[in-house]
Amino acid sequence: MPIRPGITSKLFFAILLTCVVIALAMAAAMRTSFNQGFLGYLNEQEEQRLETLRPTLASAYAQHGNWDFLRHNPRRWFSLIRPPGMPASEGSPGRQRPAPPESDLTGLSLRVSLLDAQKNLVIGNPRLSPDAKLKTIEVDGQTVGWVALVPFQQVSTGAALRFQAQQLKSSYLIGGIAILLAALVAWLLARMFLAPLRHIAAATHRLTTGDYATRVEVASRDELGQLAEDFNHLALTLGKNEKLRRAFMADVSHELRTPLAVLKGELEALQDGVRPLTPAAILSLQSEVATLGKLIDDLYELSLSDAGALSYRKSQTDILDVLRMAADAFRERFAQREIALEMDIPTRQAAFCHADPDRLRQLFANLLENAARYTDAGGKLVITAALEQRTIKLEFQDTKPGVPDDMLPHLFERFFRGEQSRSRSTGGAGLGLAICRNIVESHQGTIAASASPLGGLRITVTLPLANGVTS
Ligand SMILES: Nc1ncnc2c1ncn2[C@@H]1O[C@H](COP(=O)(O)OP(=O)(O)OP(=O)(O)O)[C@@H](O)[C@H]1O
Ligand SMILES: [Mg+2]
Repeated sequence: MPIRPGITSKLFFAILLTCVVIALAMAAAMRTSFNQGFLGYLNEQEEQRLETLRPTLASAYAQHGNWDFLRHNPRRWFSLIRPPGMPASEGSPGRQRPAPPESDLTGLSLRVSLLDAQKNLVIGNPRLSPDAKLKTIEVDGQTVGWVALVPFQQVSTGAALRFQAQQLKSSYLIGGIAILLAALVAWLLARMFLAPLRHIAAATHRLTTGDYATRVEVASRDELGQLAEDFNHLALTLGKNEKLRRAFMADVSHELRTPLAVLKGELEALQDGVRPLTPAAILSLQSEVATLGKLIDDLYELSLSDAGALSYRKSQTDILDVLRMAADAFRERFAQREIALEMDIPTRQAAFCHADPDRLRQLFANLLENAARYTDAGGKLVITAALEQRTIKLEFQDTKPGVPDDMLPHLFERFFRGEQSRSRSTGGAGLGLAICRNIVESHQGTIAASASPLGGLRITVTLPLANGVTS
């Protein structure tokens, strides 16, 4: 089912929106700053012009002795204040009201006015605002008048307006290009950032369809790289579990099929009259049924002993006590098999552990049964216990036969049996040590197999102690 909008487009729009907002804010800030800067620049220009007007007006005053020559004489006035380099329009015929000089782009001539020494208007702009700039006109050190200028409030004249409009137009163009560029970059970034995520999503989809061989490339060291690594690990574990499950099911069905086939054959022989129905025949049937029953019990035990199963009832348990009791129960069996049982464990000492006593008994019984089954008559089993600060180490060492070195790592696998115990008469299903490992690991301990110096097998079990050793 496609999800819309995809995370790529969401990220794309998020980045794009951020860029657009930044571009708009910058455009607004730039516009304000441009307008103010532009006005400031124009006003500064004008002040400089005002400065050049002062000596012109002073010398005109000195010539006439007063300002009367300028009163009601705008033509004269404009010719006096015209920008330098402009032709005088005074003499041009046919002009009643002279226009301000054409190159006076900022309209300065219309905003400047002349005041007499008492600050009364002589000529020029009559609307003097309070922020008008006043400069003195001095003749022989005496103030004879003032030249006043109303500063710009806004850009209003044609050329300045055109300049401003041009600026606005190019800023729209720049803004448009910036947004297009931002969209392109946002699209590339969104695709680039999310590429690993898309790969992981596709791989997860393949995994759900049962393709456990699927892997993703770990391209970075960030969270996405970690995710890819974890994904690969997950796929590996799932694949391994699936393989184990298949092997386990195959083993289970094989183990069940063999005694069933034997049973079926024997029953058919009885039915056909090939074999007489004697007590011995019935005993044989019963033994097959018993084998089946034990296998099913073992499988059940195995499932119960799996770490995390609810069937553990742990309490303060003296491991050495459980071991002594388990060994006592096997004494008779060992005597029958002519195997000596030696115990080298601290007497009158307890080693408490937070454990399920029934499961511990099962662990020791499995190890004792193996020793009894896979040790030649005349041999011996030596059990030792070494107490350490926080752990207890138990060793079960027997005499020959042992287990070839290459088989040692597989002993704890389900259904693993040594070659010589392949025959059903001596060997079991190969679940005993797998159950042992489950029990030990459920008690946070370890179990390992190695060759015994006595010539047989050595099983080493380490279990954590609850409160150290007590005497
Ligand atoms: N003390 C031992 N000496 C020699 N070989 C051993 C010893 N204990 C186990 N083995 C070998 O390890 C194999 C696995 O043992 P495990 O207890 O798991 O299964 P099993 O005894 O064959 O069957 P089960 O215990 O399920 O009845 C055995 O088949 C045997 O070959
Ligand atoms: Mg066994």
